[in-house]
Amino acid sequence: MDWKHFWDSKAMAGEGAKQVGRIAGGKELEADVMLAIAKRISEQLQLEDTDRLLDVCCGNAYLSQMLLPYCNSIAGVDFSDKLIREAQKLGSDRMEFYVGDASQFRLNQDFDKVVLYFSFQYFEEYELGKKVIENMLQHAKPGAKILIGDICDRRKFFTYYNSPSKLISWFKQKLKNKNDMGKFWHPKELDKICLELGVTGTCLPQESWQPYAHYRFDYLICNEK
Ligand SMILES: C[S@@+](CC[C@H](N)C(=O)[O-])C[C@H]1O[C@@H](n2cnc3c(N)ncnc32)[C@H](O)[C@@H]1O
Repeated sequence: MDWKHFWDSKAMAGEGAKQVGRIAGGKELEADVMLAIAKRISEQLQLEDTDRLLDVCCGNAYLSQMLLPYCNSIAGVDFSDKLIREAQKLGSDRMEFYVGDASQFRLNQDFDKVVLYFSFQYFEEYELGKKVIENMLQHAKPGAKILIGDICDRRKFFTYYNSPSKLISWFKQKLKNKNDMGKFWHPKELDKICLELGVTGTCLPQESWQPYAHYRFDYLICNEK
């Protein structure tokens, strides 16, 4: 799947929540749900008002702007130049945005906390996911926390694709390399990546009010290096 093309097209086709696929049950997520998600992220990362936060796969910064009240400043990175242009329109002097691929960007800065939310499924191979985590670690201060949130859960694959017609449609999309959900990860794969990179990771279940809790989980990494 050409994910850059996929996200550039979303940027052209809508605005706000729609541009970053913040949809549940066919409707855009309400702003108060997004605000509650931002609050939960701030708690999971223990964000402090002096923290510089790195938001990888920030999209149009719909979520980043809601995280801003919990920290000092945010740097956002995304490979969709069209979504980054939308983010830049927000015009806050406490946020800066860069076009870059999550596995390769270099900012030559390190951050107190790092988040990558609702995007890990687009890294469809184990080695690519590992490269992305390695790159986030390279931008994290010693002791920094890294949250990978809203990861599609391999164990819940059949909860998401819960009917023969959905499974057939998944299979047909897969054959055409057009599956728009990406990879369902097993928490053990993230444990293995953390072990290989010499850091500690913990799988966190989501709370039931979260819109995708029935098939997604969160994962918290501490950069002990
Ligand atoms: C579903 S949106 C999530 C946006 C935001 N993190 C949120 O939670 O609302 C997924 C984002 O991941 C970005 N993305 C996907 N693959 C990427 C990659 N390899 N490098 C950088 N950004 C990527 C897309 O451009 C898109 O903005």
